Amino acid sequence: MKKILETERLFLREMSEKDFDALYKVLADAEIMKHYPYSFDENKVREWIERNMNRYRENGFGLWAVCLKETKEMIGDCGLTLQNIEGKMLPEIGYHIRRDCQRNGYAKEAAKAVMDWAFTNTDYPALYSYCKYTNEPSYKTAESLGMKFDREYPDEANEKTHVSVIHREEWTTLDKK
Ligand SMILES: CC(C)(COP(=O)(O)OP(=O)(O)OC[C@H]1O[C@@H](n2cnc3c(N)ncnc32)[C@H](O)[C@@H]1OP(=O)(O)O)[C@@H](O)C(=O)NCCC(=O)NCCS
Repeated sequence: MKKILETERLFLREMSEKDFDALYKVLADAEIMKHYPYSFDENKVREWIERNMNRYRENGFGLWAVCLKETKEMIGDCGLTLQNIEGKMLPEIGYHIRRDCQRNGYAKEAAKAVMDWAFTNTDYPALYSYCKYTNEPSYKTAESLGMKFDREYPDEANEKTHVSVIHREEWTTLDKK
């Protein structure tokens, strides 16, 4: 499977149908997905994998499998997708980490590598993260990368959507260590 990125503790690679069981554990967890407007059943998880495989072909990026270097186990996903944010298709960094692996800095580590990849391999002037306004773990993760509050807007699915952003010029001044 195509490896995309490596960090201190993780590697990110393209996902495939073989990741169904691992991804089901991440996404079909009512607690972890409580900020989403729907829950994940088996079909939704299969569609999720298929959609990302299509994105790799069409865009050259998508949500990638986040795996522990030590065991090669997939513990979540993280990557770049194009999302409709207040009516515009914008590049968005997304992440989902299995509940028993959270609060270890894995989302931050993976998303930081994705942010560096995106600014290096695409021309986008800014990168975004968005979530339901109550999803503190999500926007805190965005802020931990150096993103800042951009806006909140009313939205049918999320009630209110919270948007974080980092502009290319800000990224160039970040400490890259
Ligand atoms: C959002 C999510 C991926 C974070 O994963 P994680 O691996 O636990 O995050 P990290 O440990 O890397 O933490 C990243 C930052 O967010 C903060 N954070 C994480 N979880 C938090 C929580 N529950 N409350 C407050 N802050 C939190 C951390 O303190 C850290 O900030 P810091 O470096 O400034 O201390 C995880 O909670 C998740 O999968 N949530 C459900 C899926 C989801 O909602 N994804 C976003 C879709 S919009």
